[in-house]
Amino acid sequence: MTELLNQAYAADTFRRQGHALIDQLADYLEAVRRPDYPAGAIDFHFPEDSLQQWTEDLRTAPNPDVADLFTRAMDQSVRLLHPQYVGHQISPPVPVSVLAGLLGDFLNNGMGVYEMGMAGSTTERLVALTVARQLGFPEEADGFITSGGTLANLTALLSARGRKASSNIWKSGSKGQLALMVSEEAHYCVDRAVRIMGWGDAGIIKVPVDDRYCMRTDLLEAYYQEATAAGIEVIAVVGSACTTATGSFDDLAGIGDFCRRHDLWFHVDGAHGAALAFSGKYAPVVRGIDKADSVAMDFHKMLLTPSITTALVFRNGADSYRTFSQEAQYLFNREEPEWFNMAKRTFECTKLMIGFKAYSIIRTYGTKLFDEYVTLVCDLGHTLADQVRKRNELTLAMEPFCNIICFRYAPAGVSEEQLNEINERIRQRMLEDGDFYLVQTRLKGKLYLRCTLTNPFTKAGDLEKLLDTVIAVGNGVQV
Ligand SMILES: Cc1ncc(COP(=O)(O)O)c(C=O)c1O
Repeated sequence: MTELLNQAYAADTFRRQGHALIDQLADYLEAVRRPDYPAGAIDFHFPEDSLQQWTEDLRTAPNPDVADLFTRAMDQSVRLLHPQYVGHQISPPVPVSVLAGLLGDFLNNGMGVYEMGMAGSTTERLVALTVARQLGFPEEADGFITSGGTLANLTALLSARGRKASSNIWKSGSKGQLALMVSEEAHYCVDRAVRIMGWGDAGIIKVPVDDRYCMRTDLLEAYYQEATAAGIEVIAVVGSACTTATGSFDDLAGIGDFCRRHDLWFHVDGAHGAALAFSGKYAPVVRGIDKADSVAMDFHKMLLTPSITTALVFRNGADSYRTFSQEAQYLFNREEPEWFNMAKRTFECTKLMIGFKAYSIIRTYGTKLFDEYVTLVCDLGHTLADQVRKRNELTLAMEPFCNIICFRYAPAGVSEEQLNEINERIRQRMLEDGDFYLVQTRLKGKLYLRCTLTNPFTKAGDLEKLLDTVIAVGNGVQV
């Protein structure tokens, strides 16, 4: 052991630095509860400034002042716990799951094979089974945790291909044209998955949406017949629960029935909204999700867990072994299913104990915490929509389903083109001011301000203040 290695592993230094960091995070957690909490949701730094600052910081290496390093990182990060954070779809993690993550990082068991992650592999399966039960899946359902919704969707679609394609693509490569059908408002990762699988433009059939940006399920039959007549082999439909931009939920029951009729795979991209299944009040919004063959659900978006933690569950557990072969892999290899050797079913070989973070929440608080949280933030979404409706200067893009709300500053007598410019400037100005953090999206050519309410510390009063600020900034914009 060299002197430097000895220093790097020093227990007393770790103890001191760890205590100091936990104190710093706990202080932050305490501060955001105070009504006079002064800091804004973000101290925005332009990318070149940030690069310069960190480049200078790195020049101080070797620098043992870890507290300074952590403070710098905190200062240049969005404060998800700030009541005025109303931006992207990511929740402030519950502290116990952060501690579980720290433990997982420290243990660093790789999890590719069972014995290199016994606790991690077992707890992640129990999380997946908890999700399966909550979705109303049958006994034979199974699943695992993977690194994000993007990867979960691709994984599910590879299983769909293994199960439904007429030829053995895994063995012989692609021959005919395969395709799936999905709402035109679906997350771009579905489009990417199609292209990664080599299906190209023709492999993604985009179904138009209605006024609330939900898939026009009534058009599925016609689109399917047209594709089939053109020699395309449609193997799956992906339902969005919900879409990213507007939080719109497709008619999952309707899609499920359609898939059953045509023997198609039904995948639900529930990265954001499948979590509504945990809410006693909002579960009806995902009615029909139990008809899916596979569902992806991000714990880091709506279930209070650090990034990136996604449950991918299969209604028929055997299908979870088909991702990397045409047959269920354990059959192919003439082995038992081996739920405990995760790498058989996941893209990742080495993997952190990501499921353990979600497990720590379920074990500590029960799924009741998810119910309370999802219900609270969706209620908050409806509160914001009500407040927008009361202001003449603002227009809602649509009635929200959950905690994603799109609206725009749109006083009478201003042209569409000017409104886009004004709203873009409002968003940029608010980003640079940093009091609030909200984002923007384009819907049918119109630029909207977009809020996702994920912070349980946000109150109705913060939302009133947000709308006052939007209007004040909008009134001041000259175009
Ligand atoms: C509907 C939907 N699907 C998939 C994703 C991608 O998930 P992840 O960021 O976990 O890869 C997102 C992210 O915003 C999403 O909203």
